[in-house]
Amino acid sequence: MDNTPMVLIFLGVFVVTEGAQQPSAFELSVWPPAPVVEYGGSMELNCTSTCRDPDARGGLETSLTKKPIGNGTGWIAFRLVNITEWRSSPLCFFQCPEIKTARASITVYRTPERVILEALPTMQVGKDYNLTCQVLNVAPIQNLTVTLLRGQELLHEEMLLSASITKAENVTVTHKITARRRDNGMEVTCRAGLDLRPHGQLFENTSLGVRLKTFAFPDDPKLQVPDIIETGTDTTMQCQVVGVFPSEEAQFNLSCGGESLEATVRAQGDTVTAEARVSSLTAGELNLICTVTLGLKTKSATRTVGFYTLPPPTLNTPATREGENVTLACDSPGVEPTNVSLRIRDAARTLTSGRERPLRFTLAASEEDNGREFVCEVEVSVMGMSAGKETSGKLSVLYAPKMDNASCPSDQTWEEGTEQSLSCTARGNPTPSVECVKDDVALKIGVPQPVTRALTGSYRCTAKNTQGSADWDVSIHVRYSDPDILLITLLTLGIGAVASAAGVAYYMYYRAHKIRKYELQQASLKKAQELKRLNGGGMANHV
Ligand SMILES: *[C@@H]1O[C@H](CO)[C@@H](O)[C@H](O)[C@H]1NC(C)=O
Ligand SMILES: *[C@@H]1O[C@H](CO)[C@@H](O)[C@H](O)[C@H]1NC(C)=O
Ligand SMILES: *[C@@H]1O[C@H](CO)[C@@H](O)[C@H](O)[C@H]1NC(C)=O
Ligand SMILES: *[C@@H]1O[C@H](CO)[C@@H](O)[C@H](O)[C@H]1NC(C)=O
Ligand SMILES: *[C@@H]1O[C@H](CO)[C@@H](O)[C@H](O)[C@H]1NC(C)=O
Ligand SMILES: *[C@@H]1O[C@H](CO)[C@@H](O)[C@H](O)[C@H]1NC(C)=O
Ligand SMILES: *[C@@H]1O[C@H](CO)[C@@H](O)[C@H](O)[C@H]1NC(C)=O
Ligand SMILES: *[C@@H]1O[C@H](CO)[C@@H](O)[C@H](O)[C@H]1NC(C)=O
Ligand SMILES: *[C@@H]1O[C@H](CO)[C@@H](O)[C@H](O)[C@H]1NC(C)=O
Ligand SMILES: *[C@@H]1O[C@H](CO)[C@@H](O)[C@H](O)[C@H]1NC(C)=O
Ligand SMILES: *[C@@H]1O[C@H](CO)[C@@H](O)[C@H](O)[C@H]1NC(C)=O
Repeated sequence: MDNTPMVLIFLGVFVVTEGAQQPSAFELSVWPPAPVVEYGGSMELNCTSTCRDPDARGGLETSLTKKPIGNGTGWIAFRLVNITEWRSSPLCFFQCPEIKTARASITVYRTPERVILEALPTMQVGKDYNLTCQVLNVAPIQNLTVTLLRGQELLHEEMLLSASITKAENVTVTHKITARRRDNGMEVTCRAGLDLRPHGQLFENTSLGVRLKTFAFPDDPKLQVPDIIETGTDTTMQCQVVGVFPSEEAQFNLSCGGESLEATVRAQGDTVTAEARVSSLTAGELNLICTVTLGLKTKSATRTVGFYTLPPPTLNTPATREGENVTLACDSPGVEPTNVSLRIRDAARTLTSGRERPLRFTLAASEEDNGREFVCEVEVSVMGMSAGKETSGKLSVLYAPKMDNASCPSDQTWEEGTEQSLSCTARGNPTPSVECVKDDVALKIGVPQPVTRALTGSYRCTAKNTQGSADWDVSIHVRYSDPDILLITLLTLGIGAVASAAGVAYYMYYRAHKIRKYELQQASLKKAQELKRLNGGGMANHV
């Protein structure tokens, strides 16, 4: 301030006069004309006139502490020290010979002691927050401009022009901001500018930066888990939040019955999902809680899950005999909760059901019931939901062998020269053994064998098991085909041979034993007749 070049004074650029009404002999001015001084500081003031009288007297009237620092023809200078008055206008006077006065208006300033930007909480996206900047102990506030910046972007600028307070003040500037996702991580600063130009300088003080943290967490988490879970099994519980930001900062706590579970968290876009394995070894109801914390918000979802114990039911299907009454028992030991219903069914329909344990079903065993499949079903009711399991079993009904045309055809015709096997089985439980016998010779069943005419005949098949035995007759026919031409040729040849033999014999016998002629004739006739009978019988058999 005080080291302003003297040159300007002689050019007479800045002249402040007071009370110069009538044309006067001299001019009086103060230098500097608009002094700017820091609170508590000091400055020099020069009362300068155009008075050429070396004896002319001048002075300075002020409440401030002053010290004369020099004088000369037409001027007198003072040093003002410890300027702690916010408003002061020292009055310069000169007598040359009349009295003239000039006033200097001093601007006292104070740079801000501190500029404080108040910290902000973690902000919820979409909500309004006040950015508050305090500028402490600053003057004059009409020269103060408070600027709020987000990064390089100007958010708000406030000039406190209208204020006409001259002492140091605390200034608070508030600006409303609406939190946005992209504000997260940005820095906000407050800048206090004390602009004393043109007579002074520009002071700028900036607050420490405040880093913004924003979050979005609009919806409650959703918990996905079955309503009822079997004990001893591992089930996945899934907790999901959507629309969250910053999604990677979402903190999950999954718990089951008050015990924290180990969760794997994965974020995709603004959806975050946490998964944990849930299991219990004991039946009962447990609370599953998913708590998500993000920013300042904590939200949770709770579900009650019913754990049940359900071993497969037992089905007792005792072996029985045909015609006896058999009772099937269906039970479900170890089920918890014990509110169970049982059902016995077969492939077609429900046979009986009820809550009594064990559940029984009695039937008169028949051959058809052998191998019949029965199912025992148990259904447990847990928290209004039901879960079930089933066990199946086959009934074994013992019965004596039974044979019929279906399993053992009573007439079986085979072709001579082919290979055939006797098919003959018997029903029965246990599986019966079957033997077919003709003339004390057994015919192997199911074993291929060459067919000969000798197989022809009636067989007695006997089936046996522990429950008894059954007989069944089977006739086997063997079909053979001899061509007729051969038969006739053989017949003709046979007759020819006999005739020739007879002729030769006759001639010889006639010559040798003429007397036995009659007997010989009778014998050859008998032989031919017998041949004829044999051949004729074979033909009849063939047809
Ligand atoms: C006061 O002003 C006069 C002329 O205007 C100059 O000669 C003199 O040196 C100044 N005094 C001081 C102390 O600046
Ligand atoms: C001017 O200065 C002289 C010494 O330099 C001093 O004796 C005298 O008192 C001063 N005059 C005024 C009016 O202060
Ligand atoms: C300045 O003035 C204040 C009060 O007016 C006083 O307490 C202080 O001692 C003074 N300082 C000097 C250096 O004169
Ligand atoms: C912000 O400040 C204004 C007045 O200064 C007040 O009415 C409002 O409630 C404040 N808002 C918040 C979010 O604090
Ligand atoms: C300004 O604030 C400071 C600290 O908060 C306090 O000590 C001082 O008295 C305040 N000044 C005024 C003028 O209110
Ligand atoms: C600030 O102070 C200066 C004194 O140097 C004054 O001339 C100016 O009018 C003031 N500016 C504002 C904007 O109040
Ligand atoms: C404010 O800025 C000025 C210079 O621009 C400096 O002298 C002063 O120490 C600063 N005040 C604070 C509180 O930083
Ligand atoms: C998670 O929640 C459970 C029950 O709500 C609590 O007991 C446990 O301390 C929590 N764990 C953490 C790490 O916050
Ligand atoms: C089987 O039970 C029925 C009625 O339940 C009974 O009339 C019948 O005599 C029983 N049969 C046998 C073999 O026990
Ligand atoms: C048992 O379950 C049935 C439905 O399956 C329900 O109607 C009944 O009230 C339950 N009983 C008890 C004691 O829970
Ligand atoms: C078995 O079938 C034959 C004809 O193939 C028939 O003559 C006989 O009567 C049948 N036997 C029975 C018990 O049905």
